[in-house]
Amino acid sequence: MNSRRNFLINSASATLAGAAIGFSGAAQAGTVAQSVARVAEFNPMDWASVRQQFLLNPDLIHLSNFFLASHPASVRNAIDKYRRELDLNPYSFLDDNMFALEQDKLWRSVAGAAAEYVGGRPNEIALTSSTTVGLALIYNGLRLKPEQEILTTTHEFYPHHESMRLAVNKWGGRVRKVTLYESSAKASGPEMVSRLVKEIKPHTKILGVTWVHSGTGVVLPIRELAAEVAKINQTRDENDRLLLIVDGVHGFGVLDEDIALQGGDFFSAGTHKWILGPHGNGIVWAKPENWALVQPTIPSLMDPELSTAWREERAPHGPTQAAWVSPGGFFAYENQWATVEAFQFHRQIGKKRVADRILDLNGQLKEGLSRMSHVTLHTPLNRDLSAGFVCFEVNGVSPKEVVSRLREKAVIASSTPYGKSYARFSAGIVNTPAEMDRALSLIRAMA
Ligand SMILES: Cc1ncc(COP(=O)(O)O)c(C=O)c1O
Repeated sequence: MNSRRNFLINSASATLAGAAIGFSGAAQAGTVAQSVARVAEFNPMDWASVRQQFLLNPDLIHLSNFFLASHPASVRNAIDKYRRELDLNPYSFLDDNMFALEQDKLWRSVAGAAAEYVGGRPNEIALTSSTTVGLALIYNGLRLKPEQEILTTTHEFYPHHESMRLAVNKWGGRVRKVTLYESSAKASGPEMVSRLVKEIKPHTKILGVTWVHSGTGVVLPIRELAAEVAKINQTRDENDRLLLIVDGVHGFGVLDEDIALQGGDFFSAGTHKWILGPHGNGIVWAKPENWALVQPTIPSLMDPELSTAWREERAPHGPTQAAWVSPGGFFAYENQWATVEAFQFHRQIGKKRVADRILDLNGQLKEGLSRMSHVTLHTPLNRDLSAGFVCFEVNGVSPKEVVSRLREKAVIASSTPYGKSYARFSAGIVNTPAEMDRALSLIRAMA
């Protein structure tokens, strides 16, 4: 029989989560040793070493880093280790780490790592499978009265607008949209906030916005907006509070922000994009008093109280908690649990260094494009109003054609999937200034 031994994936994640992870076989020894060696080699202060952690095809220049993460070595290794254990003994490994003892529940490590990253507490974190699922759980779970409305913008991406549409189909009420800028390149923080705030009416119950617009690259100043919402709420009853919901996915893992201090009420983000975590994972952050407003949509496995209540044929005790909104049914647990290593990777490099690097590289692209007379830059040059996107048009060449010509030259760009489409670059921490120069030279040649 395999002897069960406790193995700490690495001391930092163990400190984060206080969780010991049980591994059963000597069969893993080689892989584990390699993974530890690889992680030990990693120098988070050196961008070349950061890039070496990824399997990204070195023959390509990857400029669509917003989309779906390639994983650093520590994340890949953690996924492999969990998968191996689940292959060796799925019943015991899952039961030990999910249902046996409180301290064995690996999902708590993920909530702990996410909480540390957002500057909040583990009980504020629901684990989801994407930004989309998080948004759907919030809008479906908040009760809207037929006379109330959701106020939003014309700049949201499909899953946010669609979550709102489905919510008013269910609850009644309506959705109203505000345009925050006519020209994204000339967007102004105070003007965006004031355009929204002017439209908040006594019957506006939810304000749903996106932190970083993936169609234009514009960053909405959430802190300033939240401060205005707080002022409005001083004049409202507690039960009537206006709730600020943020689709935060393209700021999460990009900008140097503590989400728990940003001022929003609910924040949904996938961790499989800029956080560089395993695919099919995300979080929603909210304070306990806001979780209490949510009716869960999907039966959860994260808190024994729920299944105990079911066995005892009673309602669960207490208000809704974040764990109750984390969807149940079995997950790809090897992916969910290895999200800890992604937060750890960011922590090793440092939130501010990540933000500065992403802003510098995308800034280099913006500056270069802004000097080309055959190019229209749609993302603000202002560093405070943009993040990891650079949206642009090339005169006489459709966005799809721009993307395809770049791909022929080994540069991976994208076109925005909105009503009005632009060509889009998205530089991340895996890129270099030289790669920006190469991408710019290819756009220059399209004149
Ligand atoms: C603004 C915005 N919100 C949500 C999503 C969807 O994210 P997910 O795949 O995590 O559901 C995207 C996709 O890129 C997006 O651009």
